[in-house]
Amino acid sequence: MKMGGSGRPPSPPRAAHGVNPRAARVIGAISALAAALGGCSTLLPGQDVRYSPTPHHVVAAMLQLAGVGPDDVVYDLGSGDGRVIVSAARDFGARGIGYDIVPELVAESVRSAETAGVSARARFAHGNIFEVDMSPATVVTLYLSEELNERLRPKLLRELRPGARIVSYRVDMGAWRPDRTISVDVDGRPRSVYLWIVPRR
Ligand SMILES: C[S@@+](CC[C@H](N)C(=O)[O-])C[C@H]1O[C@@H](n2cnc3c(N)ncnc32)[C@H](O)[C@@H]1O
Repeated sequence: MKMGGSGRPPSPPRAAHGVNPRAARVIGAISALAAALGGCSTLLPGQDVRYSPTPHHVVAAMLQLAGVGPDDVVYDLGSGDGRVIVSAARDFGARGIGYDIVPELVAESVRSAETAGVSARARFAHGNIFEVDMSPATVVTLYLSEELNERLRPKLLRELRPGARIVSYRVDMGAWRPDRTISVDVDGRPRSVYLWIVPRR
């Protein structure tokens, strides 16, 4: 399944124009932030896929499916508002780091970890997921696109240790068949969550 279509958030309300230049700049800045945080119809600089948050109950199901616990190091590749890593730290006792290409989303995630009181275990960094060293991760979480999962697959298999778990919301990994698939209800529709366990080399 590709992002876009039903995976896309609704468009943000349009800002009024025809106002004085200072007000227009303020409106522009607010619009850019709103776009970064959830309602953008086009890709922002560096993005390979748009921001669309995983519903909170699905985040819990993903982390449960991966069997996340206090010994785990969870990486969320394209971490959005940070909800996966904050939940992994707050609700499952894990440590984690989220990477996102949009600085506003990284800042929002840092604030969210502070609010949840888990800043020591939930970290966030601005970066491109294709440049991240994934080798410390015991669990990787994904909500990307078919094309991105396909591009990430060799890197995941090369860098993750055998036994590491990968969970993905809605998007499978092409020819690499999942070890388990569960279905989660989202607004009355069944949505798949996939689990892979990195095999021995
Ligand atoms: C569909 S959202 C998922 C957000 C979060 N993981 C969740 O499940 O709620 C995908 C995220 O990936 C980020 N992203 C897209 N391309 C990226 C790239 N090349 N490197 C890092 N982040 C990227 C987007 O900014 C967006 O926040």
